[in-house]
Amino acid sequence: MDALIEVSGLTKRYGDTLAVDGVDLTVLPGEVYGFLGPNGAGKTTTLRILTGLIAPTSGDVRVLGGAPGRADVLGRTGSMIESPALYPYLSGLDNLRLLAEYAEVPRKRINEVLELVDLTDRARDRFSTYSLGMKQRLGVAAALLKDPELVILDEPTNGLDPAGMRDMRRLIRELGSDGRTVLLSSHLLGEVQQICDRVGIINSGRMVAEHNVEELRGEQELVIRATPRNKAHDVLAGFGTVHQYDDTLRVQVDPQRAAEVNRVLVEAGIEVSELRSTERALEDVFFELTSEEKADVG
Ligand SMILES: Nc1ncnc2c1ncn2[C@@H]1O[C@H](COP(=O)(O)OP(=O)(O)OP(=O)(O)O)[C@@H](O)[C@H]1O
Ligand SMILES: [Mg+2]
Repeated sequence: MDALIEVSGLTKRYGDTLAVDGVDLTVLPGEVYGFLGPNGAGKTTTLRILTGLIAPTSGDVRVLGGAPGRADVLGRTGSMIESPALYPYLSGLDNLRLLAEYAEVPRKRINEVLELVDLTDRARDRFSTYSLGMKQRLGVAAALLKDPELVILDEPTNGLDPAGMRDMRRLIRELGSDGRTVLLSSHLLGEVQQICDRVGIINSGRMVAEHNVEELRGEQELVIRATPRNKAHDVLAGFGTVHQYDDTLRVQVDPQRAAEVNRVLVEAGIEVSELRSTERALEDVFFELTSEEKADVG
């Protein structure tokens, strides 16, 4: 399967600032890829390079088999980088008409994208009167006009309220299930966990991990409350690494073995008052990775 985006050793320097520092990134056809990182990590800079808005300092970048910014590559890519650049005094519809004319897209496609982002009813209102969520949605509609194979969205839920975020997530999932490839950036861990198939974590310009979301969440533990706790700790150590949190114990063991763990504890004369499984949150993984990174540097 040929990658839709292939980036290796990508670097972007602004004076003394190394905004992107040797990034490798692969996005496969049909996946929703989350580019996750805190403020200033280098997400927007990377996405600008991928859409041909700025040139890299060094590194190899191929988008849809070609150089980013090449006309045929741009024709097959839809993007929204930071806030959508649309005319405030024109209606949403007129903004899309202008873009459609420029991109030589048939008029009927305008109605389709308005429908997709649920803005048909407000299409004749001025862009400046839109709420932030509506502006973001119109930006996505603009990105979808050319019916692109690849959609690149920079923090599409930024600034939206919970309902707006939910609508945007639903829209992105729809795009992904439609056979399109989506690359989106986010600083919200829960968000990429909900939307994406794979996630690349970037911090201080460097990729610190690239994983399937499932893989990242996959490491599970059993949480156990039992007395006497010391004795329970010893018994559980036979199953896996045990950590103590307040009055609970956590053991890294496949939750499928919960019944077995319970039986062994009870047979050892231990009273079990709680036993449940937990998934490690992506958030924990992220902080582990980024603090390791800091530890390496320091
Ligand atoms: N045009 C520029 N000139 C100078 N420095 C820049 C420029 N654009 C970005 N930077 C710097 O590059 C680094 C990465 O910025 P970038 O905007 O890519 O981060 P980001 O991950 O998108 O952050 P955010 O979550 O805040 O949007 C930052 O230190 C930023 O100050
Ligand atoms: Mg940014």
